[in-house]
Amino acid sequence: MTSSRAHRRSDSPDHLSTDTETASGRTDRQPPRSVHRPQFDEKSVVPGESPLSDRVEQSQPAPLSTAIPRKSTEFSTGAQPTGPAQPAAADDDLDVSRFVTPADRKRALAEDVRTGLTSSPKDLPPKWFYDARGGMLFDAITRLPEYYPTRTERGILATEAKAIIERSGADTLVELGSGSSEKTRLLLDALVAAAPAGARRRFVPVDVDESMLRSATAELRLDYPSIDIQAVVADFDRHLDQLPTGGRRLIAFLGGTIGNFPPTARVDFLRRLRAGMRPGDALLLGTDLVKDPGRLVAAYDDSAGVTAAFNRNVLSVVNAELGADFDPRAFAHVALWDAENRWIEMRLRSLRDQTVHVAALGLDVSFAAGEEMRTEISAKFTQDALAAEYAAAGLRLAEWWTDEAGDFALSLATPAPGSTTGAGPALHLGL
Ligand code: SAH
Ligand code: TRP
Repeated sequence: MTSSRAHRRSDSPDHLSTDTETASGRTDRQPPRSVHRPQFDEKSVVPGESPLSDRVEQSQPAPLSTAIPRKSTEFSTGAQPTGPAQPAAADDDLDVSRFVTPADRKRALAEDVRTGLTSSPKDLPPKWFYDARGGMLFDAITRLPEYYPTRTERGILATEAKAIIERSGADTLVELGSGSSEKTRLLLDALVAAAPAGARRRFVPVDVDESMLRSATAELRLDYPSIDIQAVVADFDRHLDQLPTGGRRLIAFLGGTIGNFPPTARVDFLRRLRAGMRPGDALLLGTDLVKDPGRLVAAYDDSAGVTAAFNRNVLSVVNAELGADFDPRAFAHVALWDAENRWIEMRLRSLRDQTVHVAALGLDVSFAAGEEMRTEISAKFTQDALAAEYAAAGLRLAEWWTDEAGDFALSLATPAPGSTTGAGPALHLGL
């Protein structure tokens, strides 16, 4: 294994914004970043309290039944014209394929909420944080002084993007859980720079939240005329085997999002990813690293209360989509470090005895005062632990890049020689 280290980047947000503008060559449309943030006011980030459902409905493309898949041959499964899990084209000129329709989304949310709220202890799975408002709140988190992962990962990318692209040899960048794809611009810059004159490149952002994906795609298309952008609305818990193939792919999964999977789901995810990789494909994974618990907890319990608002947003999503009557103010945000499991755990604690009605499920759920419901884990890694997880999934740790303080790592993993899917013992029977 080779190893290299990125130069230390300043942790100051001021330095960061300058760095981002010059490195990615884009115009910064965000408000000025300040180290001294006022107490967080949700309305300043998202005007209006709960126009959630309206906003989501307005951005919906044509119904699935009338949509015709575009470029369907690029889907590894071969697209069929009908069926719930087929890619569907959008109603504007962005190339957006959908594996998740609004109806699918609602069905899956209903199932998760029913299971989560009737278990003991209760939980809600993290993918439901990210509606339009959740995306904006997450964006605000990434700019908080306490939340070091985004700027640290961006710093590593700023230093190493060229090496990453060269080492991968990729002509196609697939990004899972792409969100705003803001940091990804550094990789796209390097991808374009490494391409022979006149050659086109391909970018495939994949996210379950269509509104965020669409706005990111629209902006990127203007800024990267030599890159074909093929956006995919998909749930990587379900559609990993249906991602576009073709070309030599670098599959990026940034932001430490892999840490949000429970451990068994994590290895399963890596295995499924590995099963879809062809020789020459590589995985670029962003992982947050184990460090002083004080800093970890602060990153998930900021003084301005943005993370608390983000955590409670999942209740607003359930209200808007399933007609529940959660009062988000009746729940407190809790973030704690679980040393044994090496993860940050986020919870919502009921501030009083209360009963919540979820209309779409015909469900009444009681919460005792002080009862805690788990909403998210964020696992932290070491190089050895990650290398072992790669190996268990049929992948090999090929490169490891970190900032000087060792706060965050980007690693490159390639299919392990001799393994075809990493799926298990059957592979070794020579069948
Ligand atoms: N990659 C960005 C965003 C990270 S936030 C960054 O590094 O800053 C996590 C992103 O993953 C969100 O945009 C969310 O919508 C998406 N996401 C979460 N669960 C998902 C799932 N099951 N399938 C697809 N996308 C998912
Ligand atoms: N992938 C991010 C992380 O684990 C997601 C995240 C950041 C998050 N802050 C959060 C999720 C607060 C839930 C609540 O760092």
